[in-house]
Amino acid sequence: MSSIIEDLIARKVFNNRGEETIEVDVITTSGFGRASAPAGKSRGKAEVVYYPQGGVDAAIKKVDELIAPELAGLNADFQEEIDNSLHEIDGSTNFKNIGGNTAFSISLANAEAAANSHGLLLFQFLGGNAATSLPYPLGNCISGGLHARGKSPDFQEYLALPHGAESFLEAASANTLIHKKIGDALKKKSESFNGGKSDEGAWIANIDTVRAFDVIAKACEEVGNEMDFECGFGIDAACSSMWKEKEEKYVYENEGVKRDSGEQLEFLLDLIEKYHLTYVEDPFHEEDFESFAELTRKSKNCLICGDDLFTTNTERLNNGIKINAGNAIIIKVNQIGTLSDAVETIETAQRHGYDPVVSHRSGDTCDWHIAHICVAYKCPIIKTGVVEGARIAKVNELIRIEHFLGNRAKMAHLKIR
Ligand code: PGA
Ligand code: ZN
Repeated sequence: MSSIIEDLIARKVFNNRGEETIEVDVITTSGFGRASAPAGKSRGKAEVVYYPQGGVDAAIKKVDELIAPELAGLNADFQEEIDNSLHEIDGSTNFKNIGGNTAFSISLANAEAAANSHGLLLFQFLGGNAATSLPYPLGNCISGGLHARGKSPDFQEYLALPHGAESFLEAASANTLIHKKIGDALKKKSESFNGGKSDEGAWIANIDTVRAFDVIAKACEEVGNEMDFECGFGIDAACSSMWKEKEEKYVYENEGVKRDSGEQLEFLLDLIEKYHLTYVEDPFHEEDFESFAELTRKSKNCLICGDDLFTTNTERLNNGIKINAGNAIIIKVNQIGTLSDAVETIETAQRHGYDPVVSHRSGDTCDWHIAHICVAYKCPIIKTGVVEGARIAKVNELIRIEHFLGNRAKMAHLKIR
């Protein structure tokens, strides 16, 4: 058995939006790994640069001419060494020369190749025998904001979180039922609703920002009663895209309202209390650490999660930790570029009581590696939509992992349970 890297092969493939993306194969003496990169639509400013100038074609050329010759002969087992080499070859702080998505695909394909060389599944290779806990699926049911077209709620995502489930399969089933009930309710509520869905498979409807809570609340309550466990819910407010710097206000276009930071805080506290929200992501824009801290202090039993705020970056997370801004963090490996960087952020989060929420991107492929990352590093939540091919690829992989683990499988520890 040998994990020595023999070659890297890069190609252009497409994501679920039909956008070009990069896929990389890493071939070792005894194994093989493959990964393809996702793409965000509401990106954080502090994310790494996805591609070098020239896009995916230029990235592929870099792999062929520059990166493959450098990595050949190295041992895929030593992930940090591979990831450090990627940083060295790139030479910048934000992967602008080889592309963060190039680094992402090589990094994850390498991890997969190492696991495969040892005849192990990725989560076993990365997490060992102790990796037996499954995440709760946080599933997008209604899309708004930058993820929708035309009139739709101002918040970007309304998400179900069936945190009372005793197994991943049960939780994923609850999400599919909630998603379906919401579709039925929207049909009754909105004449213009035609069953349209966003990239993430969530419904798009012309309903207002606050009424959308009533719809998801009812669906979660009904499914919770039917399945006999608690189904919570929350939002990704994605407020960087609502924040207008010049006016210093959050603009709710659908609602026709503007709120300054203080009003935004009060509005969100009211929503958390009224609807018993268990999850609120990016309630303020990406530089407002103080308001995140205030909301975290004043709200109860709710995960206050930073996505654009932290961009999976340990340094930004450390800034948040200093003032207790948030108590959860979105982990998107392609915001930072490599698996080692993301793992450093996950471990920093866990040391300081922040729940890591491993997430897809709105533009994604059927790559399922994030399912393994959750289990390997005991992350309590996976955010990956309910329906649509690229989402189901990850959900089904977790169902397979749970099945594989048999009676060793258990649900992860979640603060708000
Ligand atoms: P994305 O956004 O479009 O950048 O993937 C998803 C999110 O904000 O969580
Ligand atoms: Zn987000």
